[in-house]
Amino acid sequence: MMPRKNLLLASLSSFAIVIFIFFISFTIHSLTTSLTNIILLQQAPLIVNTQFTLLIGIFTRPGNFDRRHFLRLVYGIQSTPIARIDVKFIFCNITNREQRTFVSLEIMRFNDIIVLNCTENMNSGKTYTYFSTLPQILPTRYDYVMKADDDVYLRLEPLASSLQSLPRVDLYYGFVIPCPSMNPFVHYMSGMGFVLSWDLVEWIRRSNIPANNTYGPEDKLVGQWLNMGNKAKNRVSNKPKMYDYPGTNGKCSHELIPDTIAVHRLKKWEQWINVLRFFNVTKQLQPSSLYSISYD
Ligand SMILES: *[C@@H]1O[C@H](CO)[C@@H](O)[C@H](O)[C@H]1NC(C)=O
Ligand SMILES: *[C@@H]1O[C@H](CO)[C@@H](O)[C@H](O)[C@H]1NC(C)=O
Ligand SMILES: *[C@@H]1O[C@H](CO)[C@@H](O)[C@H](O)[C@H]1NC(C)=O
Ligand SMILES: *[C@@H]1O[C@H](CO)[C@@H](O)[C@H](O)[C@H]1NC(C)=O
Repeated sequence: MMPRKNLLLASLSSFAIVIFIFFISFTIHSLTTSLTNIILLQQAPLIVNTQFTLLIGIFTRPGNFDRRHFLRLVYGIQSTPIARIDVKFIFCNITNREQRTFVSLEIMRFNDIIVLNCTENMNSGKTYTYFSTLPQILPTRYDYVMKADDDVYLRLEPLASSLQSLPRVDLYYGFVIPCPSMNPFVHYMSGMGFVLSWDLVEWIRRSNIPANNTYGPEDKLVGQWLNMGNKAKNRVSNKPKMYDYPGTNGKCSHELIPDTIAVHRLKKWEQWINVLRFFNVTKQLQPSSLYSISYD
């Protein structure tokens, strides 16, 4: 038989060991839990299981701060489970001191700007520089790359749905010009917003056909390159879901329709407001005691 004192010591030390083990396992448990949380958080986009990725490059100019701010709101409140969509603003070299500072601040806050090595222009090579530079500068590839204007309203959910079942390669998608044409092979997709599959972006980078032919209307040129290269066997013109704002451009325009993907030529705030109201965008606003906004 153990002496009483020894027994007390032994039970005290086993108690300490039990506490210790409990403490260790608790720590390990909370550690693994937080690690799992971190891993889950980091993988969230994978778990959602999006079907494809799309980069939308909105062509704009460094000085268009107000438009960018507005478009960040317009695209920031849209989402779709179908695709991972990144929206970035695209411009050429910044030449002005003030803009360098402001754009730097924007990048620090939003990280949604790509500055290409070109001089700002409409029809002398910005689109070529855009597509041909992307494979070199992007950290990852996308399934699709879009070029869009800053006066177009894109609805991301219907856009993603419309791409969902289309080929991921050799695809040229948009709104075919001329306006009345319903044949996606005649002639080219409007600059309002067209999509190329990643293989075509890489082809533009590699081939000397685009490199040799960069001056002229940018959207028309893309069509010419693809024709000359015998590329883009898959072509989709999404009429009537893409169009110009009513009354702004003859046969390219029609009334706003519910299943719209893109409305183009939104130059005036009044036009943007009509479009946002037509699609009930601000009706998603949650009621709150903090504000009361009534629409007439
Ligand atoms: C940018 O373009 C200019 C003119 O085309 C060229 O001289 C220069 O090397 C380019 N810079 C980079 C970083 O690619
Ligand atoms: C754009 O800016 C970079 C860096 O300042 C310069 O190296 C390049 O030559 C410029 N490119 C053009 C086309 O002006
Ligand atoms: C590029 O342009 C040059 C000069 O016009 C021409 O000789 C050459 O054949 C063109 N290359 C291609 C691949 O079109
Ligand atoms: C907007 O909401 C109204 C009223 O609820 C509805 O009648 C209309 O169809 C909606 N418009 C669109 C484009 O969904």
